[in-house]
Amino acid sequence: MKGVILVGGLGTRLAPMTRITNKHLLPVWRYPMVYYPLYSLVEAGVRDILIVTGGNNPGAFLELLQDGVEFGLEHLYFTYQSAPRGIADALRLVNHFINDEPFVCILGDNVVDGSIRPYVQSFMEKPVGARLLLSEVTDPERFGVPAIDERGKITQIIEKPADPPSSYAVIGAYMYDAQIWEILPTLKLSDRGQYEITDVNNAYLQRGQLGYDVLPFSWTDAGTPESLRKASEMARESAFWTSARIGEE
Ligand code: G1P
Repeated sequence: MKGVILVGGLGTRLAPMTRITNKHLLPVWRYPMVYYPLYSLVEAGVRDILIVTGGNNPGAFLELLQDGVEFGLEHLYFTYQSAPRGIADALRLVNHFINDEPFVCILGDNVVDGSIRPYVQSFMEKPVGARLLLSEVTDPERFGVPAIDERGKITQIIEKPADPPSSYAVIGAYMYDAQIWEILPTLKLSDRGQYEITDVNNAYLQRGQLGYDVLPFSWTDAGTPESLRKASEMARESAFWTSARIGEE
């Protein structure tokens, strides 16, 4: 299965740190932020990985990651998002790389405290529809939030709801089949001027093609001062990340 990591955007919630650099280059404990999603994908068995960058210092990702050798890869692929118009917009740029294969997309500011391998592997075995990962959080209003009925079925996903219908966040690790290429052209710009990944997920839901798993370990984004601090602390305390030893012999 192929993988995509999104490291564009302006990172305005981390200004002024992001005024002169890309959010995904900022330190999270002992690594640059982008190392976390990249390692998560590689650890899950994904080898063909495209980095979609944009915003400040897009060229720095090439300098930093090179051909992925520190991660045991032989190649890394890069592409450029010229305007920050959302996650779903960035995915339009990856069609040439993915073709009609199933793939996994991770947001460059997402840090998981454990292996996503079981979820990626199980989607790879039956790559139909979309599969999401949920995490229980104390501040769901900052995220895409699923409404879940008594049978455990997602009935709707709401982006940044004022009144969250559950205490779960849809984390930024998404698995899709080729139906996404039909869905992306139907999206409309949201009130915040973005093509929303939540709209993609709701379209899969309407097709009866949306599955999910709830993560049994912690997760955080690192896109605000508070969550950046939390991500560093989580990584430092984590058996998964302290044993990662990226780039060490
Ligand atoms: C994005 C998605 C949101 C998701 C979150 C995970 O939010 O829109 O649905 O829960 O990533 O990190 P954003 O970081 O753009 O506010």
